[in-house]
Amino acid sequence: MQETILLFCLSGLFLGHHALPPIKSYYYVDQKLSWTDAQQHCREQNGDLATVDNVADLQHLQESRTGFIYDDDFIWIGLYDDRTRWKWSLGDQDYKVGQNYGTWSGTDPDFWNNEENCTGLSSTGIWFDISCYSLYGAVCFDDEESNYILVQNPMTWYEALQYCRSHYTDLAIVRNAAENGKLLALNPQSSWIGLHRHPWSHWSDGSRSTFLNWAQEKTKTTLNLQVEDQL
Ligand SMILES: *[C@@H]1O[C@H](CO)[C@@H](O)[C@H](O)[C@H]1NC(C)=O
Repeated sequence: MQETILLFCLSGLFLGHHALPPIKSYYYVDQKLSWTDAQQHCREQNGDLATVDNVADLQHLQESRTGFIYDDDFIWIGLYDDRTRWKWSLGDQDYKVGQNYGTWSGTDPDFWNNEENCTGLSSTGIWFDISCYSLYGAVCFDDEESNYILVQNPMTWYEALQYCRSHYTDLAIVRNAAENGKLLALNPQSSWIGLHRHPWSHWSDGSRSTFLNWAQEKTKTTLNLQVEDQL
């Protein structure tokens, strides 16, 4: 996407201190900015780029954008694909590439071909991202014994997850070099560990996205809402 783009900001109005859901108030910024500049602009106004969580939000947002010059253009919203944000299957714990321990191979994780969102451990202890449908053995984690178990039958990541959860606790979680060393001591061929990622899972304001409304070409939603591929 080029320089184009108008944007929608979001500001949450909270009613009192109770756990009422915030009422979203959208406002439309009649300027052309990059996604990053748009995000910054909204944040400077104490809001963030718009989140859209349901059909009502979409309608509300569409109503807020009438009467402007750039009415037919795409607009930015806050959805983006943060490729550094991963999860451990155990406890759904957050993992951030660059901040948390990892022995990634070369330029991995690179989410090659938009499909590599599961993690394998090589026989030399190096991590690689790969399609979750590849077939590998698995390293499971047993919480009671606090140890790792190597399972050698070839499985998809999803099958491996199911296997580890039904026989032990979960797929392996690896938080430091000592734990990576324990896995390596099992002498694994390439094997699954519990690290995985859901693409397009979060909004600019940090909230999780559950509502998706992609157009066929998967670059914009049906209402011409523009989203960003990567920061
Ligand atoms: C991998 O990404 C796809 C979408 O591209 C998603 O449906 C799937 O749940 C993800 N898998 C995991 C294990 O996170």
